[in-house]
Amino acid sequence: MNYLWGETRKNQIMRKKIVAGNWKMNKNLSEGLALASEVVNIVNDELNDDVTVVLCTPFIHLSQVAKIVEGSGKVFLSAQNISEHESGAYTGDISIEMVKSTGAEYVVLGHSERREYHNESNAQLAKKVDLTLANGLTPIFCCGESLEIRESGKEVAYVTNQLTESLFHLTEDEIQKVVIAYEPIWAIGTGRTASSQQAQDMHKSLRDFLAGQYGQEVADEISILYGGSAKPDNAPELFAQPDVDGGLIGGASLKARDFVSIAKSF
Ligand code: PGA
Repeated sequence: MNYLWGETRKNQIMRKKIVAGNWKMNKNLSEGLALASEVVNIVNDELNDDVTVVLCTPFIHLSQVAKIVEGSGKVFLSAQNISEHESGAYTGDISIEMVKSTGAEYVVLGHSERREYHNESNAQLAKKVDLTLANGLTPIFCCGESLEIRESGKEVAYVTNQLTESLFHLTEDEIQKVVIAYEPIWAIGTGRTASSQQAQDMHKSLRDFLAGQYGQEVADEISILYGGSAKPDNAPELFAQPDVDGGLIGGASLKARDFVSIAKSF
């Protein structure tokens, strides 16, 4: 590749910018519908077309929030998890087909809270990724290391292994449909954000790792979001990093104004 061609290619990279709000287990049904309406109204009035906003609601909100986001063209719907099974005797679980039937288009998979409290393994997550893609939805695949791993200096090896075990069986076409969310566990809900340099370093490492497996052009198409105490005041610096393509927002997504301010930070 000659230098000029490389520069041109760099300018042509058009990764999707995504800001996703992960409500976690917050908001009853009426509160959730009110929040979704408020977000959609502000987004429609104030946000540029080049940012995709996703609301990751509890399961029970999905079908009604679908009606609120329908037609906005900028706000999309996501579940926070699915079962690794297609259907059957799994009391209390929710299948990908059920999620799809609500109108949701994304599914968060492998959030560290699911990994920690429900022992979700990389192998189980590989099955959930497959089910999500097979049903035409977009996985938002979460990865990230604990503080202990960060302090031991092994964070890149740890996170790249999460990708290897849950994603690297995918074809080139499939991997390009996955959104990755890097969420260092020590930054989630702690108020301790990764610095923009720490985020950029990890995102670059992940993109290089994806390029090693799938080639640079494929890696350049994959949106990598940052998550962990992202707020209106730190989002602009995080999103200015070349390999940070948006955010997965927890606490700050529960207030419409804060959440949309983050989406406007690009
Ligand atoms: P936080 O959560 O923004 O509250 O740190 C992020 C997440 O867990 O997705």
